[in-house]
Amino acid sequence: KKPATEVVVEKWWQQRRGEIEQCLESRENAYIYNLAAVAENIKNLQSISAVDQIFFAVKANNHPQVLTTAYEQGIGFETVSIFEVERIKELFPAIDTNRIFFTPNFASHNEYQKALDYGVMLSLDSSYPLKYWAKTFANKTIFLRIDPNVGKGHHENVRTAGATSKFGIPIQELEELLPIIKEHNIKVLGLHAHAGSGILTNEHWAEHARLLASVAKQFPDVKYLNLGGGFGIKERAQQTELTMEQINQSLLEVKAQYPDHQLWIEPGRYIVANTGVLVSKVTQVKQKQNYYYVGINTGMNSLMRPALYGSYHNIVNLSRMTESKNHLATVVGPICESTDKLGIEIPFPDTFEGDLILIENAGAYGHVMSTHYNMRAPAEEVCLP
Ligand code: LLP
Repeated sequence: KKPATEVVVEKWWQQRRGEIEQCLESRENAYIYNLAAVAENIKNLQSISAVDQIFFAVKANNHPQVLTTAYEQGIGFETVSIFEVERIKELFPAIDTNRIFFTPNFASHNEYQKALDYGVMLSLDSSYPLKYWAKTFANKTIFLRIDPNVGKGHHENVRTAGATSKFGIPIQELEELLPIIKEHNIKVLGLHAHAGSGILTNEHWAEHARLLASVAKQFPDVKYLNLGGGFGIKERAQQTELTMEQINQSLLEVKAQYPDHQLWIEPGRYIVANTGVLVSKVTQVKQKQNYYYVGINTGMNSLMRPALYGSYHNIVNLSRMTESKNHLATVVGPICESTDKLGIEIPFPDTFEGDLILIENAGAYGHVMSTHYNMRAPAEEVCLP
């Protein structure tokens, strides 16, 4: 049996092609988001009954309407800068501050102070704030972000554990923090860990929960275990997608073992990646020996992921869906950079100037990572209901 979301979300753009084409009548390129699909993905995550609270990782997509959809589904927000905190507070002035989790990395004292003033929940991912700014946190409630030591995820650049990673407090360092915590009456209400992004093994979150639960023995006030994000999506045909039922089953076992702890997760990609597409128009086509280059009107200035991680995004010629794919195309943008390739060896039909090109799975870490490189504005964002 197919999971409900697969039916609704997967290839949603095929069903809503007319609306997509309409969006491109007045522009050369656009990020198009499907808000109904965002809600559907959240519902799918909410089927993990072992999880007590979900926080959407705002860094993945901070479009106000996307955030509003998440808010309406009742979930919280994981934020990594005071600016993300402020966006959430501006959009939802009545929000319970327990729905905002602030987990910055190497942030200034000033930023932590502001977060404390706002009253949001806060996670420290280094010993430094406790060692040097302990007075700031005296009598406050905090979370500690642990380095799980083993990094996971789709690319070396998104794995966040071990000595080569700048994130998290090494487990062996926690003991020396205990006297500081005690002396300043700091309440460690929860532990937090994130191993990386784009994880496709169902067991991962239960492993994380066990690790955190074992560390929690040192901290009598710990009530919450935040297992981080990292929920991967299926990008290539040979990948197997995550199964919510299996994740739930394994987490329920952990909960049976550690009934005093509530479990939290903070996914970004899983909620928005497949709900967004990047659509652009063909500018020129070039054949160079065996290489068939299809140039489109936007490139790494809109979507940085292929250049940064060699990420794979399926690409289709929306104008010629039924024609035979007799090329292995290199789809490129107009940026003066050799890595400005959005896809390589993509099966493609004969393609012509003005054709509409659609790039899949662009809803997470797409527009948020865009730049104005070469003075080319990134694709603007449009939301479909
Ligand atoms: N929690 C923490 C502490 C994180 O650092 C991240 C992502 C998340 C949650 C959300 O992870 P997700 O569920 O989206 O995998 N730009 C890269 C991904 C970088 C992720 C950074 N941290 C990409 O495009 O693949």
